[in-house]
Amino acid sequence: MKTRRLLILLLLAILIPLPFKAQSPCLSEENLRSRQDFRDAKFGIFLHWGLYSMLATGEWTMTNNNLNYREYAKLAGGFYPSKFDAARWVSAIKASGAKYICFTSRHHEGFSMFHTRYSDYNIVDATPFKRDVLKELADECHKQGIRLHLYYSHIDWYREDAPWGRTGRGTGRPNPEGNWDSYYQFMNNQLTELLTNYGEIGAIWFDGWWDQDQNPDFDWHLPEQYALIHRLQPACLVGNNHHQTPFEGEDIQIFERDLPGENKAGLSGQDISSLPLETCETMNGMWGYKITDQNYKSPKTLIHYLVKAAGRDANLLLNIGPQPDGELPAVALERLEQVGKWMQVYGETIYGTRGGCIAPHPWGVTTQKDGKLYVHILDLQDKSLFLPLEGVRVKRAVDFVTRHPVKMQKCKDGILIQLEEVPTDIDKVVELEIS
Ligand code: GLC
Repeated sequence: MKTRRLLILLLLAILIPLPFKAQSPCLSEENLRSRQDFRDAKFGIFLHWGLYSMLATGEWTMTNNNLNYREYAKLAGGFYPSKFDAARWVSAIKASGAKYICFTSRHHEGFSMFHTRYSDYNIVDATPFKRDVLKELADECHKQGIRLHLYYSHIDWYREDAPWGRTGRGTGRPNPEGNWDSYYQFMNNQLTELLTNYGEIGAIWFDGWWDQDQNPDFDWHLPEQYALIHRLQPACLVGNNHHQTPFEGEDIQIFERDLPGENKAGLSGQDISSLPLETCETMNGMWGYKITDQNYKSPKTLIHYLVKAAGRDANLLLNIGPQPDGELPAVALERLEQVGKWMQVYGETIYGTRGGCIAPHPWGVTTQKDGKLYVHILDLQDKSLFLPLEGVRVKRAVDFVTRHPVKMQKCKDGILIQLEEVPTDIDKVVELEIS
């Protein structure tokens, strides 16, 4: 009897892997569907836009230069993004093949890029522009059929009731000590507005949890906040850029500037969970608009990153920092177009796929769906390539684009594919029919 119970316990321990802990016990059907859609989407565009775009040195300028919070707030009086046109943004982003947009509703600077009742420090009440850019963006996203996600900062370098963390200490803002109840309420009020006034929101993307990582006793009270979101919109996914393995109540796992499993930027040592994955990366080197940064990644680098993310079963959230005049930088528009052209041809090997059964290799990655394994050859110096496919039956191999058969030879632990020449394409895709 005892051994049976032990056996059952052991079985349960094997069947319920750790990451499941991060999922709340009863997930709604809408939520599960939404996770699936998110996983299928594979590509989104991040937009970092706020008052900081006017200073054109990135979204951390306020704290990096210790700008006084009252002086900084005066930027709002001159913010008039006369060229802002949500329809043009959304069309350009859609044409890139991206399936969702993540917009900074309020970044660490504390300025709300939407009309909120809970603070005058917002785009409608504090600027001469007086337009709710989020409303315009949301309407356009819904019209053009692209999902909208909202970035929301836990950090606030402006409000006097926001907790002091390790950043933003030089902005002249007083320390509310332990008393930040009103700020917590403010955040939940704003989240309620965001999830009530702007139609369907695909995800809330939190950032800034790490501001308190030197204060182990600090508690952001996330479970209530997450429950509020799920109560208002059950299909809205919750993600948090805390650089940890997901917490209870989160629906997706976020990585920053690194592919899951890699840690070159130093923010991603965490375990990979079973939740849908996303990694964010900049097109140039900065999230918010930076006038001196023209160092945009090449189309090839961007496409490789997208493909490598898909090969690891992750979405790429690729960032653009809109200009203070409301336009997307010209080079960013060019990149959107270039990636879009590629996606038009190769999208089938990306959308709706899962990471393939061959783990990522230096030569490239694999993606998989409906009995097809797409071998994405990104960097190969030879004409032939060994694919470790032990136990997998390969019925057919064709060049994904030309549909010409690709020679293959079965060997002991897989197959050897032989190409006509050393591949020079951005991504040479060989499609294998497998069972
Ligand atoms: C970091 C930065 C922030 C940026 C975010 C995007 O957490 O604090 O400025 O919005 O990364 O991933």
